[in-house]
Amino acid sequence: MSPDRPLALEELPARLWSELVRASRDRHHGWRLPVLATVDPQGSPQARTVVLRGADAALGELVCYTDRRSPKVSQLRADGRGVLVFWCARLSWQLRAQVRIGVEEDGARVQAAWARVAGQPAARDYLAPAPPGTAGLQGGWGTGGEPAGIADEPQAVHHLALLSARVMALDWLELDRRHGPRRAGVDAQGCAQWLIP
Ligand SMILES: Cc1cc2nc3c(=O)[nH]c(=O)nc-3n(C[C@H](O)[C@H](O)[C@H](O)COP(=O)(O)O)c2cc1C
Repeated sequence: MSPDRPLALEELPARLWSELVRASRDRHHGWRLPVLATVDPQGSPQARTVVLRGADAALGELVCYTDRRSPKVSQLRADGRGVLVFWCARLSWQLRAQVRIGVEEDGARVQAAWARVAGQPAARDYLAPAPPGTAGLQGGWGTGGEPAGIADEPQAVHHLALLSARVMALDWLELDRRHGPRRAGVDAQGCAQWLIP
C-alpha cells in the first residue's frame, strides 16, 4: 500500500489474497507463519503455529502441511472448523481467517507436496517413526541428528498430510499511525465492509 493513499475498501479482498499468495511463496513474509486454532473433541481450544504453504484466491483456499498422526488431524476430522491468525509487522496487518479444514492423506496433491519437501530439512518432520506428541527423545531418531539420508529418498514412508482450509470469512485489522486503526470484514462471496476496530 502506498503510505500516502490508504487502501480502498473495494481493493481489499484482492489485496489480501495477493498478500496470502506472496506469503505462501516468501519465507520472510510475516504471514508465512500463522497460528491455527481448532477445537478438540472435549470442546477445548487448541492453537499452534503452522507454515502457510499455499493460497488460491480463485478457490478461496489456504494450504498447510502436517503429520497425519498429529493430534490436530484427529481434531479436524471430528470438527473441521478453524481460525488462522496472521500478523505482518511490515504491513501492520492482522488477518483472521475463519476456515473449514479438510485433511488430505493421499492423492496427487499430497504426492506433489511430498515431492517438494523430500530432500529438504523439513522432510524429517514427516518421517519420524513415532507420532508427534508421544513421549520420546528429542528429534525422535535417538541421535538428535538427521534421519540418515532417508529424507533424500522420494519413496521413503512419510506421514505428510495436506490441510486444505476453505475460507469462509476474513477479518482484517490495520494498525496505522497516520490514519488510525481500520478494520474490515470480507465474506465468502468477497464482499467487504468496514467494521469498528
Ligand atoms: C515456526 C513453526 C512452524 C511450524 N509449522 C508447522 C506446520 O507447518 N505444520 C505442523 O503440523 N506443525 C508445525 N509446527 C509445529 C506446531 O506448532 C505444533 O507444535 C505441532 O504441529 C503439534 O501440534 P498439535 O499437537 O496441535 O497437532 C510449527 C511450529 C513452529 C514453531
